[in-house]
Amino acid sequence: MKIGIVVHSQTGNTLAVAKRIMAKLSASGHTVSLLRVSAINDDESDIGKIRLSEKPDIGEYDALLFGAPVRGFSLSPVMQAYLNGVGSFKGKKTACFMTQAFPFPWMGGNRALGQLVEICRSKGADPYGTGIVNWANAAKREELIESAVEKLGNPA
Ligand SMILES: Cc1cc2nc3c(=O)[nH]c(=O)nc-3n(C[C@H](O)[C@H](O)[C@H](O)COP(=O)(O)O)c2cc1C
Repeated sequence: MKIGIVVHSQTGNTLAVAKRIMAKLSASGHTVSLLRVSAINDDESDIGKIRLSEKPDIGEYDALLFGAPVRGFSLSPVMQAYLNGVGSFKGKKTACFMTQAFPFPWMGGNRALGQLVEICRSKGADPYGTGIVNWANAAKREELIESAVEKLGNPA
């Protein structure tokens, strides 16, 4: 399967998780591309004012995995702005993951992930897997990453 992992990551946490998922998918024989989403004004919270500098084309992929950080209890505005500009996911497998600083998913992760899942559904694809990695939860972080790798690394 041709898989695109679409990532918004400013400080590298989400990217690190994406690379772990990528390694698992590649080891299973998939052709995987890591696709970065970025903006000139990454700190802008008004989605309408975000100026994307990297907005990958996703047409060629059989499966799309989306990873982004939580920003203010929401999906990062940069990922929101990017997804506003892409077309249908019909016929593609999708999956979603978030990273967040706070130690528990109810501290923004669940809400942000829900937004990302809803966007996928609105574009015609029900995600096969989701994950949240709470970065500050040092005791559990590796376990949470492993769980995300397990769930998103098996598109079946
Ligand atoms: C403006 C801003 C808002 C944030 N809001 C939240 C939040 O509501 N909840 C949370 O747990 N982490 C929050 N964070 C922390 C990031 O979600 C966390 O550090 C994430 O792992 C960063 O991912 P990255 O390294 O891929 O950019 C925020 C960070 C920034 C810069």
